[in-house]
Order: sequence, then C-alpha cells, then structure tokens
Amino acid sequence: MSAESEGMSRRTFLRTTLLGAGALAAGGVQMLTAPAASGKGGKKQVVERYPLFIPPVVSPAGLQLDARPELDVDVSGGTGKQLAGGWAYNGTFPGPTIVARQGDVATIDLQNFLPDETITHWHGMIVPHLVDGHPLQAVEPGHTYDYPAFTILPQQRATMNWYHPHPHFITGEQVAMGLAGAFIIRDADEDAIGLPSGSYEVPMVIRDAKFNNRGNLTFKRSKSGFLGDTPLVNGTVNPYLKVDQGVYRLRVLNGANARVFRVALSNGAPFTVIGNDGGLLPSAADVSEFEFSPGERLDLLLDFTGLPAYDPANPVVWMLQDLDEGWDLLEFRGTGATGASAPDLSSLPAVEVLTNPVTPAREFSFDGMSRINGREFEFDRVDFEVPAGQVERWIFTTGGNGPHPVHTHGAYFQIQSRTGGRGMVFPWETGWKDTVLLQDGETVEVLIRFDLDFVSEPSNGAPRPSETYLDGTAGYADPGLYLMHCHKLSHEDAGMMLNFRVVG
Ligand code: C2O
Ligand code: CU
Ligand code: CU
Repeated sequence: MSAESEGMSRRTFLRTTLLGAGALAAGGVQMLTAPAASGKGGKKQVVERYPLFIPPVVSPAGLQLDARPELDVDVSGGTGKQLAGGWAYNGTFPGPTIVARQGDVATIDLQNFLPDETITHWHGMIVPHLVDGHPLQAVEPGHTYDYPAFTILPQQRATMNWYHPHPHFITGEQVAMGLAGAFIIRDADEDAIGLPSGSYEVPMVIRDAKFNNRGNLTFKRSKSGFLGDTPLVNGTVNPYLKVDQGVYRLRVLNGANARVFRVALSNGAPFTVIGNDGGLLPSAADVSEFEFSPGERLDLLLDFTGLPAYDPANPVVWMLQDLDEGWDLLEFRGTGATGASAPDLSSLPAVEVLTNPVTPAREFSFDGMSRINGREFEFDRVDFEVPAGQVERWIFTTGGNGPHPVHTHGAYFQIQSRTGGRGMVFPWETGWKDTVLLQDGETVEVLIRFDLDFVSEPSNGAPRPSETYLDGTAGYADPGLYLMHCHKLSHEDAGMMLNFRVVG
C-alpha cells in the first residue's frame, strides 16, 4: 500500500470512528468503545497505541539546553517501538519541561548543534530583551548563547508557558522538526487552591506532524502554512494515558505550526477551564469543546470518576478528539483506582482588570501571508514605541488568509471583544492572554500594558551588555525591544512580525 493510500484509508477510518462517537453520544451512551475497524479484505485492525510520553522535569537554574538533530527520537512513548529522525532539545521530543517558581533565578545556556542558526524564545515569559530570544540573538551552528540570568518576576503568574526556536525565516522548520518544550511557573496563589498535582497534572503539547517514508519528521515550506497528517501529543503517535477515577489537571498547548485544533471528548464530557496563557482565571467555566491556535494554552480540569478500569477484552475508553479533522488525539484508559478529588474553585485568585486605555488606539492589520500594516519584518526597523505602565487599546484586523494567531512578546493582554466571524469572546479567552486567534472577517480588540521594570536596565550606570548582530557587528542591547507577530509560523517566517520598543 502506498503511503498516500494508507493515509487516505486512515483518514476515512478516523472519520468513521468520530461519526460513531457522535451517534453514541446522541443515544445517551456515555462512553466510546475503543476503535476497531475493518481493514482491507475485512480483516480487523486495531491502532497500536503507545503510552503518552511525559517529558522529564528540569529547573532553569544552571540549565544547559542543547538543540541538535537526533536519529532516534522516540515517538512511541518510550517503548522504543517507533523511532524517528528529528531535532530535539536535550534529546527528548518535546524537550524537558522547565518548572520554576516566582522569584527563582534562571541561568540558561543554549548550545546550537543544528545545521542552521537558532535562538530559543520563552513564549509567555516576561523577560528583558536579551533573554527574550529575539532573532537578533540567533547563534550560528556550533555556538552557544548564554542567556543573562533572569528572575521569574512577581507579575509572572503561575501558568504553563513554553519555549521554542525563534530565528528569522526558519522558526517554522525548527518547530516542525521537534524543537519545543513546556515552561511551567508556580506561585503561592496557585498553591493555595490545591489543584491536582504529581501524576494528576499532565502537560500536553498537541501538534500535527509529517513523517517521511523512512519514518523521520519532515517539514515542507509553504506560505499558507505547514500542515501535518499525523496528530501527536507530547511527541507520541496514537497515545494513551492511564487515569485514576478522579480529577486531572490537563495543561494543553497548541504547539503546531499552523493548525487550529477544535478539541472535545468522545463522550461529550465537559472540560472545566481554570486557566489559559496568563494563568488562572477569576472563575472557572465548563465547556464541551474548545478551539485553540498555535501558541495558546488552556488549563483544564477533567473528571474521570465515571471511567471504569480498562479491560482489553472489552475496552471502554474516553477519547480526546480534534473535531475539525476527525482525529483521535489521546485515549484515556481507566485504572479503576481512586484518584484526586475535585479542588474548591470558589476562591480562584482575582485578576486585575485593565481599564481606561489612552487614546488613540493602535491598529494592526494582518494581511496577505507576510504583512502587518502593509510591511514585512525587518531586523532593525522599530515600528513604534510603547511607554511602560500605560494601558493601550490594540485592535487586530485582517484582510483574509487566516487563521492569524496574534502573539505579543513582553506583556499579556486582555481581550475586550471580537466582532465579525465568530463574533464572541470565548470562556477560555478571558483573563490574561499572549496569543489570540484572529480568523478571517474578525476584529479583535485587546487592552495591553507593559509592566517592565527593566526597560532601562541596567540603571546603575553600568554599560549596557553588548550584543553581536548576525552580520558580526557589535551593537548594544536594546533593553526594550520586543516582537509582535502571527504565530502561524509560515506567516511569521515570511515577515508577518514587527519590532516595537517599550520605553521607560
Ligand atoms: Cu511563541 Cu514570538 O513566539
Ligand atoms: Cu512569544
Ligand atoms: Cu498569519
């Protein structure tokens, strides 16, 4: 069977199981039976499933991160049954999960063993420019970037951020090839709630990928966006996760290059959304499905009390699915053991509400596949300056070619409205966000404030740290230089990105 026809039949098969799930749910049946389909010639075939890979946890203090090509990244949950060529941080796909608390000091070195330049950006982290992973800081193959030590700031709320490459023109390739990882921040507000933890807290990097006929991760440049044909959770093909009968905290990230996922459970069970990009929401909301775009995160509680112990002879499972593509993302198998009880969500931490923006608002139009307000990114063109501490209204519009997941570095924002298109702000878009999905026909208004207290650092009169530009010339660090861009990585790479400077 050729790769193509195999893909076709698999696609058809998945659509069939999704329809089956819908039919079951409509009939009031609460669970979906594990998929089994008739292969060619009527032979029964069952998808081989692998345990969900959970990346190792590391501290950012003294962290050495290597980005390098690997011949044998395990995409089968550590079973060794399916290995792929790819690019990885510290040899795992995704890279290690960095976990830190407010006040911790991060000292990170990035070593570039890739064939191309790279730099790592800490998506969602509020850090000085020289730490931010601006493409200006990209280092050549064989070189190391020593990030200046940085403190996890008090305004950095507990959340799941992530890290990924950010060199100009080639971010899409490096992410598609496997470079990304989660960066979890803890704080006292979160501790006070007593959310499910340990094995009851599961980071989940959801993305799509393409494997070539030798089983290696591949990337194909395409202006309209790189779409894979295989969904992965934590780099695992056809994953399953064993769950106890209790509440889990699922920390999901869309780590895809271009794909928007619309996620639901096969049995229609609700997710309780407790947080997103910028941490916990002031109040929880139940949703039966959610849509999220590259760069966005959701913090979810899911109650598996009703899922019986897994019996291979008569498998009853819950399936996490992507409704748009009809993909099975992750199968939940019950252990029958008692799990975590539901936390008290009545006292989620309050979220400051931004108000009274200065006038006029700033407008940004995401047009074509490479332009913001008619212009493509240039390294040394700074498009505007933002005074620190002031609330501004930013308006995002598009002339088409969506989805455009709009992302800002250096600050979180609060979504005020979405008009046109889907015409609403969804429950998972409240609180603080750093990425918002702009679909064709939509206008999204946000309020934003840059709370950086290091825009003019160092304040002690010391010379600014020096910086070497890609062309080899020495320059000076620009402490307030940040990026805004489309997080569809092909658009970002093509130039749908701009520099702005936060000034003190
Ligand atoms: Cu996740 Cu500038 O990116
Ligand atoms: Cu970012
Ligand atoms: Cu875009």
